[in-house]
Amino acid sequence: MNTDALKKMAAEAALRYIQPGMVVGVGTGSTTNFFIEALGAAKIHVDGYVASSIATENRLKAQGLNVLDLNGTGDIPVYVDGADEADPHFRLIKGGGGALTREKIVASAARLFVCIADASKEKPMLGKFPLPVEVIPFARSFVARQLVKLGGSPTLRNGVTTDNGNVILDVTGLDLSDPLQMEENINAIPGVLDNGIFAHRRADVMLFGSPDGVIERRA
Ligand code: 5RP
Repeated sequence: MNTDALKKMAAEAALRYIQPGMVVGVGTGSTTNFFIEALGAAKIHVDGYVASSIATENRLKAQGLNVLDLNGTGDIPVYVDGADEADPHFRLIKGGGGALTREKIVASAARLFVCIADASKEKPMLGKFPLPVEVIPFARSFVARQLVKLGGSPTLRNGVTTDNGNVILDVTGLDLSDPLQMEENINAIPGVLDNGIFAHRRADVMLFGSPDGVIERRA
């Protein structure tokens, strides 16, 4: 089975968490795109959707789905999103698509975070995938130097401006054996908006698409 088929399988399995009348948070990325297609086809009468990026907002609208402003919804019952890596404690690396800051905001506003991924994203430990860090452009060089002091090798993601008008540094070589601490350490650097470690707000449910079917794990 190819990776897209596994992503689609995980995405479609997330529909079981969507009930009529809910507000649903929607992540960003290719796995989430399959979820948006499944939502369009399922026609569940939810109150509306909160998008974690402009790309997701446009895709939801293209399916005729109602997009809401997070400022008007209060906390939301469920958030569905993909990941670049997931460890056995449901801690994640996210931000391969550059939407990590809004994703973390919507995930944090959600009572339940359902993470959808193909099974290759499940890792014993985080850290192989370069960690995305969203940085205010003015602070780019300063932040890069502080990331080197933390043990990392940052690379500017060329040609990318986030929905918030910022740049992304992709960082390899960091020791992520304590993801909670590293999430805090990086976010304490002035000029960092957020980083792609989701340890303080980890997933509650993992749905992995695998050749043997969907593997569901709950925290
Ligand atoms: C975007 C993300 C995505 O969820 C992550 O990159 C996974 O993407 P995909 O579903 O395309 O594999 O964090 O910022």
